[in-house]
Amino acid sequence: MSETIQVSPLKSITGELAVPGDKSISHRAAILAGLSNGSCFVENFLSSEDCLNTLLGMAQLGVRFEVKKGTDDLPVDLLIHGCGGELQAPAGKLDCGNSGTGMRLLSGVLAAQKFDSTLIGDESLSGRPMDRIITPLAKMGAQFETRGAKPGCAPLQITGGELKPITYEMPMASAQVKSAILLAGLFAPGTTTVIQPATNRDHTERLLNSFGVNVKTEGNTISIDGGQVVEACDLVVPGDISSAAFWIVAAACAPGSHLIINNVGLNPTRTALLDVLIRMGAKIEVQLEYEDGGEPLGRIEITGGKLKGTEILEEEVPNLIDEVPILAVAGALAEGVMTIRNAAELRVKETDRIETTIRNLRLMGGEIEEFEDGMVITGGRNLKGAKMESYGDHRIAMAFAIAGLLAKEGQTTIANTACVSTSYPTFTQHLEMFCQS
Ligand code: S3P
Repeated sequence: MSETIQVSPLKSITGELAVPGDKSISHRAAILAGLSNGSCFVENFLSSEDCLNTLLGMAQLGVRFEVKKGTDDLPVDLLIHGCGGELQAPAGKLDCGNSGTGMRLLSGVLAAQKFDSTLIGDESLSGRPMDRIITPLAKMGAQFETRGAKPGCAPLQITGGELKPITYEMPMASAQVKSAILLAGLFAPGTTTVIQPATNRDHTERLLNSFGVNVKTEGNTISIDGGQVVEACDLVVPGDISSAAFWIVAAACAPGSHLIINNVGLNPTRTALLDVLIRMGAKIEVQLEYEDGGEPLGRIEITGGKLKGTEILEEEVPNLIDEVPILAVAGALAEGVMTIRNAAELRVKETDRIETTIRNLRLMGGEIEEFEDGMVITGGRNLKGAKMESYGDHRIAMAFAIAGLLAKEGQTTIANTACVSTSYPTFTQHLEMFCQS
């Protein structure tokens, strides 16, 4: 389990690559294809641990699937045979592993079923707040019991039953909470409405529409009518921009670099990282190529240079929340100050990412002030290699592998990096490819 990544400084990053499928979209594709009324061909599914757990969870609920490309362990193209909305009681507990998305979205579906179920997760997931979905789902009539050592945490025991529609104002800009409510709303008679405090990733809305389910979005108010049929459809999952983010930052911060990333998702609720890097002076060109499943896809071309610090705007935070660790690395290298505030949500991710990012960046010589809701980084530092921990957090492991490449001197060793397979199973292969070229 506890692999390590070792990297030495690299002058520049040059080449072309495609990153694996989008994690958020793969979870949703497994769930919606599984609920649909026919067979759905899903291309470029992310066969990372997180998404495989959701797919296997759907299989435990009676959904059949065939691997059309890839292997049983690492499927790439799948034919998922939907159950027409008629899931079956699972024989055992559903294991969501490390995935908050898997647990929260499946909860929305399972709360509305005629049977009971139990969702479990690993140590990190068992410490993450589930009350944020339990509160709205309970208002819909769902019955949850939390069995964790920490209050409000997994294991979740769900007593399935009939739900009623609600209008719910979310206290946080969370796509997982919004999606859990919309998926539950699909099974509740009448109109369920979610009001979000700020725009955040809208894959559930887009995909539901692609599966023939009418979801209305007016500003930050999203509504779904229950009882609609989930119509089978085929999908191509775009490359995950959150995985591409590591290489985008690596190339943008290293003068002399030139990198092209193909077939990557360009959903505007996920691209705030690009806006911020461009504001920092990065040379980035984006070309939209086509749309599939309501999701725009295209190509990103990065030419390396010197960056300057910036302030991340409050409204940008939900649209780059997973990119903060790697953006902090860019901030430490850029001239001037980078301010990341209004990001307290980072404290309840796979690790407390404010703490783990700061701890590792300091080990490399970064100058950072910590705040409850973020950090202020004084840039222009020459980072130096160091020994550090991933703390079992995939994005911390990958962000600091890139920091090691961008360091001025010294080797960087990151312990406990098997976790990268949570979202980017081929990360170390891609890392080796750049290190050898
Ligand atoms: C996700 C939503 C985000 C993100 C997570 C994936 C999703 O979490 O951090 O990696 O797929 O809906 P929140 O929306 O709960 O902040």
